[in-house]
Amino acid sequence: MSLDETSPKPHDALAALLSTEMAEVNALIRDRMASEHAPRIPEVTAHLIEAGGKRLRPMLTLAAARLCGYGGPYHVHLAATVEFIHTATLLHDDVVDESEQRRGRPTANLLWDNPSSVLVGDYLFARSFQLMVETGSLRVLDILANASATIAEGEVLQLSAARDLRTDEEIYLKVIRGKTAALFAAATEVGGVIAGAPEEQVAALHRYGDALGIAFQIVDDLLDYGGVSQSLGKNTGDDFRERKLTLPVIKAVAAADAEERAFWTRVIEKGTQTEGDLATALEIMGRHGTLEATRAAALGWAAEARDALAPLPAGEIKTLLSELLDYVVARVT
Ligand code: IPE
Ligand code: IPE
Ligand code: MG
Ligand code: MG
Repeated sequence: MSLDETSPKPHDALAALLSTEMAEVNALIRDRMASEHAPRIPEVTAHLIEAGGKRLRPMLTLAAARLCGYGGPYHVHLAATVEFIHTATLLHDDVVDESEQRRGRPTANLLWDNPSSVLVGDYLFARSFQLMVETGSLRVLDILANASATIAEGEVLQLSAARDLRTDEEIYLKVIRGKTAALFAAATEVGGVIAGAPEEQVAALHRYGDALGIAFQIVDDLLDYGGVSQSLGKNTGDDFRERKLTLPVIKAVAAADAEERAFWTRVIEKGTQTEGDLATALEIMGRHGTLEATRAAALGWAAEARDALAPLPAGEIKTLLSELLDYVVARVT
């Protein structure tokens, strides 16, 4: 299944349903990304935040809170918190990955420099904690503090997993569950917590976010080999150049014959890449069907996320959360 440019996307439907609250989230983000003391901060944050992004995570927080019948104001704070954490991790991630394009713009590390990206990322992390404290809920603080630590662990684990052909699917899952799914899971869980939802529903929201996040990152890794840079707003082929062991490569290494194994050792472990190597990698992957197998893995996690929705109240939001899974596995941007 594929989605063309004109078909309505489930996250557009969610955005429309939550448009009033999303506008409040965006206003709060704009208000809190400012700094009176260091003009570099609003310059860098505006560059990244005003480029948009899909705003998936804050939308999920708002949706979860609404789904659980919340009527108060703090889901807006939590949604902004989650987007701040996400934005901070993007600033740091683009330094670590030496990336040059993000949200269709040159990265902050390219336009300014690495120190600016790291320090403004730290600033946004700190701002996110100020925002969540305003909710007065120690439990949401606990969830989001844990998620922040887990994201950093995932990114650090990935450092040692990269360039090492022994990295297997189990390690890969640990990496993506940490660096990506932890924030999706926290985003949905805190929506339920702030609404005072029953524990069974809070657990269901966590499970949904976790599985959705895993599916999302698997597809993101797939798009790094099969996607179109222009519509993604970031460069493709970065993972190969960075010598990352993502799922399509892990599956190809597992199926490799001696000659292919020598290829992977050279390009991934030794890092002596020459022109045409990416094309060769794609050809080997094609031979073993690893891109299809990777998409099948994403579909499996999407099914897991759909199952997780069972204990949640039926209605429009639940339907949209279910449809969002179709978008996540079929997305081309
Ligand atoms: C990018 O996330 C980082 C990953 C987890 C792959 P998104 O694809 O949600 O980024 P934006 O916010 O839409 O730019
Ligand atoms: C993004 O990981 C995860 C975080 C930002 C923590 P990637 O490095 O795989 O994602 P992109 O491709 O840069 O968005
Ligand atoms: Mg990256
Ligand atoms: Mg990265």
